Amino acid sequence: MPRTRASASPLFVPRKASRAQQRAARAGFAEARRQARLAGAPPTHRGQDTLDPELRPTYPPSGRPGPASARGGKLSLPAHRMTTATVSGAYPFLAEGGLGAEGHFVGRDVHAEAAFCYDPFALYNSGRIEGFTNPNAVLCGVIGMGKSALAKSIATRAIAHGYRIYIPSDPKGEWSGLAQALGGQTIALGPGLPGKLNPLDAPDRPTGVSEQDWRGEVRKRRLLLLASLASTVLKRDLLPMEHTGLDVALDLAVAQAETAGTVPLIGDIAHALGRPELLDAALGGQSGGIGHAADDLAHALRRLVHGDLCGMFDAPSTVRFDPSAPMLSIDLSRLSSSGDDTALVLAMTCASAWMESALADPDGGRRWVIYDEAWRIMRHVALLERMQQQWKLSRGLGIANLIILHRLSDLLSAGDAGSRGRVLAEGLLADCSTRIIYRQEADQIALSMSLLGLTGVQAQAIAALPRGRGLWLVAGLSFIVQHLLHPKERALYDTDFRMAAKVREFTATEGTSMPVPILDVRR
Ligand SMILES: Nc1ncnc2c1ncn2[C@@H]1O[C@H](COP(=O)(O)OP(=O)(O)OP(=O)(O)O)[C@@H](O)[C@H]1O
Ligand SMILES: [Mg+2]
Repeated sequence: MPRTRASASPLFVPRKASRAQQRAARAGFAEARRQARLAGAPPTHRGQDTLDPELRPTYPPSGRPGPASARGGKLSLPAHRMTTATVSGAYPFLAEGGLGAEGHFVGRDVHAEAAFCYDPFALYNSGRIEGFTNPNAVLCGVIGMGKSALAKSIATRAIAHGYRIYIPSDPKGEWSGLAQALGGQTIALGPGLPGKLNPLDAPDRPTGVSEQDWRGEVRKRRLLLLASLASTVLKRDLLPMEHTGLDVALDLAVAQAETAGTVPLIGDIAHALGRPELLDAALGGQSGGIGHAADDLAHALRRLVHGDLCGMFDAPSTVRFDPSAPMLSIDLSRLSSSGDDTALVLAMTCASAWMESALADPDGGRRWVIYDEAWRIMRHVALLERMQQQWKLSRGLGIANLIILHRLSDLLSAGDAGSRGRVLAEGLLADCSTRIIYRQEADQIALSMSLLGLTGVQAQAIAALPRGRGLWLVAGLSFIVQHLLHPKERALYDTDFRMAAKVREFTATEGTSMPVPILDVRR
């Protein structure tokens, strides 16, 4: 009987793998090591596809596509030597050195692939940029491109740098939530609302200004305001006798209010203007019938006292200007729904006069005054005049103004070439050292080129900018900047929520007694 040999080795020694299996195992191991090495090492080449779409440069690193890139290898030009100053004109985006790291973070300079920071006061004080003569800025772009979002994040980030923010008129009411979130103040004005502002309020006298000088300044501001209101309603400039009438009526109302220990109201002035014998007596011998010359004025101011704006600007202010609040906005959304802009413009004039007089303190620190939806006021010369005054005072008072438009042709809507309105509007643009251009419609490109002196490359860029990306022209320098938002900012500045809202189904019991068919939106 053959002896059987027992061996335990097959239990412990694995069966030898075939050559093919060994090769596959070696290849798998090598691949796993390669993957591990790649995961640990910093990326050497970033593919365009892996980038966040917001951070993708406008053009690939190889330059603009097409024959204009001059990279076809077929173009042979004689060598040309020039200075770097000249070459920066030929390649405006490639040659910019940046604005430096001072200021608040805005986003990403997509050509330099670097952070873009901006602070008009820091730039002005440093004197590094030739031609940066003022802190004012204009921002324009088609609807929904992120203009307000940019203004709001400039405001939010500037507060962290000690700035205060003022919104003299917010026709859409979209700044109220932000003001609340930042611990600021909002004054909502409209029919039936409790907020009242007396635009004739005299602000506190700044330190270092004599009592007499300040009285003169307050009188000048009040006269300017009254003339703006009257010419907005009358839709014409005031006549010389009407100016005198306003002058006399204001002095009468102020004297009366001072005797009673109160502040004059617009109603008091309208009342004085409506009494010709009072005006004639106050003016004495040189009157020549001033009383009746002011009849139109009395009716114009009556609109604020008895018309559609009654009560809002003809009562003692219910709020006091708080100079320590980080943000103050005046919400006019209840006024802007009607087709007629006059009510809105009158309210804007009163609200901005009230705010501007509070801003007159040169020791009030650095401030941004933001005019959102300013295209609505461009047709009103009286408001443009006020704005021009603010622009001129900006450096003296430490105020940077930001005006937001849809397109540059909004500026031209101020009047025909050479008219007062047009000159004022063009002056506003000329007094903005920073111009931020978001996407423009094709028919606006030629005008933008001529008004801003854009190069062909810049004009081509503004025709195709996506949301949140803009061409920044800071004095002579130009940048394409992608504005970056923190997720919390994105939620706070969202103005698209109504577009995303679900369609509601209305039933016959809601809002109307008429039976309304229920729409099935899913079909
Ligand atoms: N840089 C950005 N990144 C992401 N979302 C943005 C950016 N900028 C704006 N948005 C979003 O786009 C929407 C429209 O923005 P915004 O209201 O600022 O546009 P707008 O240009 O002011 O429009 P309008 O002309 O109607 O006032 C908002 O919901 C905002 O959150
Ligand atoms: Mg907006």
